[in-house]
Amino acid sequence: MNFLPEHINFYAEQHTQPESVLLQDLNRETYLKVLYPRMVSGHYQGRLLSFFANMIRPLRILEVGTYTGYATICLAEGLAENGKIFSIEKNAELEHIARKYWQKGGIEAQISLHIGNALDIIPTLTETWDLVFLDADKENYVNYYPIILKQLRKGGIILADNVLWSGKVADIQTHSDKDTISIDRFNKMVLADPSVECVLLPVRDGIMMIRKK
Ligand SMILES: C[S@@+](CC[C@H](N)C(=O)[O-])C[C@H]1O[C@@H](n2cnc3c(N)ncnc32)[C@H](O)[C@@H]1O
Repeated sequence: MNFLPEHINFYAEQHTQPESVLLQDLNRETYLKVLYPRMVSGHYQGRLLSFFANMIRPLRILEVGTYTGYATICLAEGLAENGKIFSIEKNAELEHIARKYWQKGGIEAQISLHIGNALDIIPTLTETWDLVFLDADKENYVNYYPIILKQLRKGGIILADNVLWSGKVADIQTHSDKDTISIDRFNKMVLADPSVECVLLPVRDGIMMIRKK
């Protein structure tokens, strides 16, 4: 979902650094072989994630929702020396694609992939997160938030994807499906939380940027 007019979106993409050949190939394979390929972060959002990671230089990143591992590679571009990404995906059938590209990129050793339900896995991880990319089941954002926040360091950042949900959250009266209601609840929960600062970035499908005070 893009909220900008098509030609402006095109211009923004044209004036954003291109993705690597590795990421182009992964994007192509995702569109050819995997269901719901629009879920992949893709060129523009991928560059944004890489930019954030490079600003933060995190030692520990948590990604909730690996899919084919595109965003994982983008986030890995900004890892600190000895840094590591923990990525969680419930669909085991996607693992071979993600691993193939992580291997090609020479970054497999920096990634710890956990297959299963993120709600069960996150509390078992004993890391302290510098950066979290929340991009899995939208109805559980409200459940992920308190667990992740507890494990986030002071000054740590959470980026939560799809928080505009194709604009439906801004028109909640006409969209009463459970995902729209849950994302709206999440956005309001974050806004009301005095322990964080937040900015909702209307990029792509909306990214909530959260910083723990
Ligand atoms: C939007 S895709 C992630 C896209 C990926 N982060 C990227 O940017 O390319 C969401 C992924 O979350 C996974 N997912 C959904 N619910 C989950 C859960 N409870 N635990 C772990 N993964 C989950 C889905 O199987 C799907 O692959």
